[in-house]
Amino acid sequence: MDIEKIISDVKEKFNIKYNEAQDLDSLEEVRVKFLGKNGKIKQLYGKMASIPDEQKPILGKELNKVKEEINNKLQEKKDKLAAEKKKRQLEAERIDVTLPGHKIKKGSQHPLSIVTSELEEIFIAMGFKIAVGPEVEDEYYNFKALNIPEDHPARDLQDTLYLDDLFLLRTHTSPVQVRTMENTSPPIKIIAPGRVYRADELDASHSPVFHQLEGLVVDENITFGDLKGTIQIMVEQIFGQNHSVRFRPSYFPFTEPSAEVDVSCIVCGGEGCSLCSYTGWLEIMGSGLVHPRVLKMSGINPQEYSGFAFGMGIDRITLLKYGIDDIRLLQENDRRFLQQFK
Ligand code: DAH
Repeated sequence: MDIEKIISDVKEKFNIKYNEAQDLDSLEEVRVKFLGKNGKIKQLYGKMASIPDEQKPILGKELNKVKEEINNKLQEKKDKLAAEKKKRQLEAERIDVTLPGHKIKKGSQHPLSIVTSELEEIFIAMGFKIAVGPEVEDEYYNFKALNIPEDHPARDLQDTLYLDDLFLLRTHTSPVQVRTMENTSPPIKIIAPGRVYRADELDASHSPVFHQLEGLVVDENITFGDLKGTIQIMVEQIFGQNHSVRFRPSYFPFTEPSAEVDVSCIVCGGEGCSLCSYTGWLEIMGSGLVHPRVLKMSGINPQEYSGFAFGMGIDRITLLKYGIDDIRLLQENDRRFLQQFK
């Protein structure tokens, strides 16, 4: 057998297979077939044993050359195919930065949040700080320390949501007054916005959960005039300049004297309409001078200091400000409703 002929046959066969291979997998098959452990080149080395000794070095050289040639060619094509593959991949994964993006719909602030922030800003501008207190309270802070007697109807199960014998859900933000006075010495100037709870059925104007904003100022020589001035500014800023404010004598156990604050009707301006029940006025908060007994119970000397306090329903102010006629709209989170408050 002419071994040189066999070598050139192998070379020829390699070239055919090599040219056929158009991807990395088939090229690898070609490599295994020719250079692999049982490949054609290996087999040719095996044949060396059967040829005359003097020819061995020549053929050995020849075989090494072929092997190197094949190796180089394979590597070259492998690099080329790999580069092509990479290019195709990049092409396919290319991101077109000129395509229009997905529009993200912007949310809007809840009307209650808008009004709460506005009220906070108005009071902060007048020097008030924001105070907070727990929503789970006990009888002492919610009632007793506010001079609300044991037999007061507010303490009744019908109005108050009791959690057990000791704890209840606060029915107003007034307990934050007490907690603040216990921890701070005058001058005190705080507002306390927050959630409150009552055993009420949900309807257009009542809700078992709603929001109040409490205010408390304690210092030397605080008078009813300070209360009036503060509330006047707040009303002008939240409802607009052209509204009158009226203080109507009232009763709260924690203030003496006490007053309810009315604002001229935002719909009819005082003429009388169905919103104001033809009185021309809308009630917006309770207020008064802090009862000396309340100051004393919280460790403040009523001979030395006096104070005023007020409490308003944030939900009610929101309904009035935007002319919304149903408190439930503030809780349903219907986007068609909420989107109107940009
Ligand atoms: N706490 C009262 C309520 O929930 C509101 C109130 C009235 C608060 C008079 C006050 C105040 O601070 O002085 O009905």
